[in-house]
Amino acid sequence: MSRGASVIYSFSGNTKRAAVWLNQELRAGGNENKVIDLRPVNEPRSFLRQGIQALLKSPVTLADTLEYDLRWVEYAVFASPVWAFTIAPAMRVYLNRVRGLNGKKTACFVTYGSGTGKNRALGELEEILKGKGARVLFSRAFSGASCRKEPFLRKAFSPLCEILNP
Ligand SMILES: Cc1cc2nc3c(=O)[nH]c(=O)nc-3n(C[C@H](O)[C@H](O)[C@H](O)COP(=O)(O)O)c2cc1C
Repeated sequence: MSRGASVIYSFSGNTKRAAVWLNQELRAGGNENKVIDLRPVNEPRSFLRQGIQALLKSPVTLADTLEYDLRWVEYAVFASPVWAFTIAPAMRVYLNRVRGLNGKKTACFVTYGSGTGKNRALGELEEILKGKGARVLFSRAFSGASCRKEPFLRKAFSPLCEILNP
């Protein structure tokens, strides 16, 4: 059994659907997996404002009560939608503040719409994690629509489940 966390940002539910599925699998494999759901204070709801914030890498405000100290985890999963060819601002702000990832097993995934910028966003997420000293063992981009398909998720996450659910 390992202790881990899934850090998720999702606005319209796709990323969350995939992360919740993975969370259930990790728990079924005997892991203690805590979900940290990022929800910015006064989050903009318009596509334009969200896109501009992401593009400009503008900071958003996250609750101080969120868990930013992950020294206790053995692994951590990070999941964000692609916004304006990059990761969502909430994930960026969280990653800037999180501690305790040095040497940790991590996995990351992004979900996308058209697919424009998906590799750039995923690459950026990986680089941020590596910059924190984390080992990135799994990194994937999924279309938002595929997050509704259980067989897809089972196959896509199987390499990760094999690592974390030995
Ligand atoms: C503000 C905004 C910007 C987006 N920018 C992109 C983009 O650059 N490339 C892309 O493929 N999809 C883009 N999308 C689509 C989302 O990445 C996709 O719908 C994703 O699955 C949403 O995840 P969620 O339901 O967890 O919020 C954007 C969506 C929003 C709201």
